[in-house]
Amino acid sequence: QVEEMENRILKIKRRMGEKLFIPGHHYQKDEVIQFADTTGDSLKLAQVSADQAKAEFIVFCGVHFMAETADILTADETKVILPDMRAGCSLADMANITQTERGWEVMQQEFGDTIIPLTYINSSADIKAFVGDNGGATVTSSNARHMLEWALTQKERVLFLPDQHLGRNTARELGIKPEEMAVWDPIKDCFEYEGDLKNVKIILWKGHCSVHANFSVYNIEQTRHADPAVNVIVHPECSREVVEGADYAGSTKYIIETIENAEPGTKWAVGTEMNLVNRLMSQHKDKEVFSLNPHMCPCLTMNRIDLPHLLWTLESLAEGNVINQIQVGESVSNKAYQAITRMF
Ligand code: 13P
Ligand code: SF4
Repeated sequence: QVEEMENRILKIKRRMGEKLFIPGHHYQKDEVIQFADTTGDSLKLAQVSADQAKAEFIVFCGVHFMAETADILTADETKVILPDMRAGCSLADMANITQTERGWEVMQQEFGDTIIPLTYINSSADIKAFVGDNGGATVTSSNARHMLEWALTQKERVLFLPDQHLGRNTARELGIKPEEMAVWDPIKDCFEYEGDLKNVKIILWKGHCSVHANFSVYNIEQTRHADPAVNVIVHPECSREVVEGADYAGSTKYIIETIENAEPGTKWAVGTEMNLVNRLMSQHKDKEVFSLNPHMCPCLTMNRIDLPHLLWTLESLAEGNVINQIQVGESVSNKAYQAITRMF
């Protein structure tokens, strides 16, 4: 039955040719990624989507915010489709526009016009629009350092949405001290900070990725205890303690390239999403690659895109029915576009 579904997908892909483009994020399942025209991290997929002049349909194998980004960056005629509407992102859901506007109001009262907002691309179009409208930009895990450096040339302070860990890890890389960072809690509607707020340079939104939060210092200790020769490599969406305890930390792209370029026989405990770790494991049989957390840590929403959903959306398209289209309204789209192009 799997083979039959695969053949049906291949037939539609052949028939639709350049009219159809399928980007696939590295965290997607193998059963889906085998049909991707391009695989990549969030930054690459955003850039590649922007270049798809000939595509009438982009069937995005990733999560909701990625499909929104593709819709913002492509021409109006290009329809962006998400094979399963339930493929959200728990991190992106941790900042909504009402909370953001409320928090911004308090921050303006506290700091005046000294703040520029940055948002991780893992955020809703509304948040990107807010950021674009306030002179800020999006960032991804592969350019966060560069973007934060840029933001600090624009204003005295940066509001970093919605992932506190990527924000903190990047700021620490730039030499910003822990006491120069405050956390904004959007649920309690207040700062988490002891001291004089005047010293604060980075305001971290209290959000996190539920997948990367599952890697702990305990996992690192256990791994090193079992075998001191293992290299620990983690994504910067992991907590500060985990990043400090690891040997290497960097974006999805960095993790892939580091393991690709590593010497045969080396051992790698990887702190990122399960599908990618499994893929690295099977692609690099000359090295020992495994998850830093023995429970593996899948991203459940990424996994909602599966073979039956991909087939369903493609067959609907082939029959002339556009389903699960992701459309960002014009005014939000225009403002979000500014935030994304500032990053580019
Ligand atoms: P990158 O693809 O930018 O590394 O982001 C990781 C992630 O969690 C995507 O959802
Ligand atoms: Fe969101 Fe984390 Fe899943 Fe990425 S891995 S889609 S940040 S929940």
